[in-house]
Amino acid sequence: MMLLPKAVLAIAALAFSPANALWPIPQKISTGDGVLFIDQAVRVTYNGVPIITIGYTPPASSHFDSRQIVQGGVSRALQSIFSTNYVPWKLHPRNSNFEPKLALQNRVQTIAIQQTGKDSASTFKPRAGDVDESYSLTVSKTGQVSITAKSSTGVLHALETFSQLFYKHSAGPFYYTTQAPVSITDSPKYPHRGIMLDLARNYQTVDDIKRTIDAMSWNKLNRLHLHITDSQSWPLVIPSLPKLSQAGAYHPSLVYTPADLAGIFQYGVARGVEVITEIDMPGHIGVVDLAYNDLIVAYEQMPYQYYCAEPPCGAFSMNSSKVYDFVDALFDDLLPRVAPYSAYFHTGGDELNANDSMLDPHIRSNATDVLQPLLQKFLNFAHAKIRAAGLSPFVWEEMVTTWNLTLGNDTVVQSWLGGTAVKDLAESGHKVIDTDYNFYYLDCGRGQWVNFPNGASFDTYYPFGDWCAPTKNWRLIYSHDPAAGISASHAKNVLGGELAVWSEMIDASNLDNIIWPRASAAGEVWWSGNVDAATGQNRSQLEVVPRLNEFRERMLARGVSAMPIQMTYCTQLNATACALFP
Ligand SMILES: *[C@@H]1O[C@H](CO)[C@@H](O)[C@H](O)[C@H]1NC(C)=O
Ligand SMILES: *[C@@H]1O[C@H](CO)[C@@H](O)[C@H](O)[C@H]1NC(C)=O
Ligand SMILES: *[C@@H]1O[C@H](CO)[C@@H](O)[C@H](O)[C@H]1NC(C)=O
Ligand SMILES: *[C@@H]1O[C@H](CO)[C@@H](O)[C@H](O)[C@H]1NC(C)=O
Ligand SMILES: *[C@@H]1O[C@H](CO)[C@@H](O)[C@H](O)[C@H]1NC(C)=O
Ligand SMILES: *[C@@H]1O[C@H](CO)[C@@H](O)[C@H](O)[C@H]1NC(C)=O
Ligand SMILES: *[C@@H]1O[C@H](CO)[C@@H](O)[C@H](O)[C@H]1NC(C)=O
Repeated sequence: MMLLPKAVLAIAALAFSPANALWPIPQKISTGDGVLFIDQAVRVTYNGVPIITIGYTPPASSHFDSRQIVQGGVSRALQSIFSTNYVPWKLHPRNSNFEPKLALQNRVQTIAIQQTGKDSASTFKPRAGDVDESYSLTVSKTGQVSITAKSSTGVLHALETFSQLFYKHSAGPFYYTTQAPVSITDSPKYPHRGIMLDLARNYQTVDDIKRTIDAMSWNKLNRLHLHITDSQSWPLVIPSLPKLSQAGAYHPSLVYTPADLAGIFQYGVARGVEVITEIDMPGHIGVVDLAYNDLIVAYEQMPYQYYCAEPPCGAFSMNSSKVYDFVDALFDDLLPRVAPYSAYFHTGGDELNANDSMLDPHIRSNATDVLQPLLQKFLNFAHAKIRAAGLSPFVWEEMVTTWNLTLGNDTVVQSWLGGTAVKDLAESGHKVIDTDYNFYYLDCGRGQWVNFPNGASFDTYYPFGDWCAPTKNWRLIYSHDPAAGISASHAKNVLGGELAVWSEMIDASNLDNIIWPRASAAGEVWWSGNVDAATGQNRSQLEVVPRLNEFRERMLARGVSAMPIQMTYCTQLNATACALFP
């Protein structure tokens, strides 16, 4: 008889509080069902010393200070609790009474942040594995909050997790959690958790890039790879080679000045997001022909499909000393502006079509044995410059898988072609990033942008699906783990993953909902893994969906137009109500 009311209470609590609605789910978490309010008078200390809480932005600088970084993180966490929070009615049955009574006045008293290690220069521009991102977070029933982390990056992650515990009350400016006490210990599965954003096919504004960095930090994603130039446009201002952007940008206003670039880097560092710059070469660089007409072969060559993957074609003339002079000047200008903020520089290397060199008056060949030594020599030159600037090189996989080039052991290889490439590269000792297009290409599955005139090509390509359809939906993304099926000793070479946002059909109008919340799915797999430690099974969608529904609402409230993943009917009931059982 005593058991019945208890059981009923437990079920009621389950239905009314979406427990552990954190994203990504911490490695270890326990929560209670106590209510705690928080208000703006909350005291925050960092290593025992009080810090500014509301309205602080770290100064723009290439010098980074742990205290300023943490203060910025505190300010953003409190802003997200007090200014961009939401009433979670969409996550509860319609017309239900899910909010705590305002009379319950237990409050968060203090947030005591303890950083137990010292940050170093590499904390703010880490190579994979340089930073300990772990943290622990406890919230007592009576409102004492304690955060402990070795690095300021770990502190930022803890603050984000803390902010996700709180909701806005519909009665006014009151903010509460229903989960006290809370105890969390957390750390990432992979050190490299990224998004690649194409800035060349369509221009993306500086504000959009910064908002993407914000949303990444909420998802504990830590690498933003900017594919900043391609054959279509050169939006990057290089002061010593001004013709590049003057001739190559789509419009004089659609450029990234040195100040824009520095601002993006600094914005990222302050949020634990390292920005990685890519200048794709020796293919995907046709646009340079508009500025310097003796460096490029096959620019705008037709029929394009014999010379490149999409128009306009154009690659470096691989046996021209002028190309070396150009890269020398380009890197002398750009690399010193990258090195204060990033450990990496990406030299591209995807989809080089050997036929381009058939049109090169110095080569007139598409034979591998002719081109391979030229490519090796060029890559050695480019990567030596990168190392001399204190950076580590990054390349697309074809440099290894198609051209069999020898790379330095510091070089990271980004794999996109799927199949067994990630496994093969990891087993042959390369450091690998997984961008398998079968899972991680966010641009896929939305139809063709290329035109098919009436006639043969119309008939062949009807109904105009794109090459990498179908859409990589969040459930598919969530099912994929970069190191799955790779032995533990080789899996350590798999540094993580990057989602790709190729921008033929993406600009400010749809950027947010192309990326979010699908990138959140990858974010959780790369941080937490997709296996439930308790059961040893893949995490169930029934457990994941309520949290992702909730996190999507949170991102929306914080100014990112993440798309819905379900209808409100489903979010208001429970995962089982919208499940398909066989
Ligand atoms: C190179 O061009 C020839 C036609 O000249 C074509 O048959 C071949 O498919 C092209 N190769 C590539 C990789 O596009
Ligand atoms: C061009 O090719 C010649 C002959 O193979 C070689 O000696 C020379 O170094 C090459 N130049 C460049 C810039 O690659
Ligand atoms: C090289 O060119 C020849 C002649 O056009 C063509 O048949 C062959 O497919 C080309 N090879 C590559 C790798 O594109
Ligand atoms: C690739 O290069 C390595 C070392 O340079 C060499 O041993 C190997 O035979 C090459 N493989 C192919 C398929 O060309
Ligand atoms: C990586 O290469 C450098 C330069 O060739 C060498 O000094 C270093 O020992 C290598 N490191 C490893 C782990 O193989
Ligand atoms: C479980 O995860 C593994 C590794 O990511 C994946 O290969 C497999 O498809 C997943 N299975 C299910 C049912 O999601
Ligand atoms: C989930 O929703 C369904 C449909 O409304 C309901 O029958 C079921 O009791 C709910 N389960 C829980 C645990 O609330």
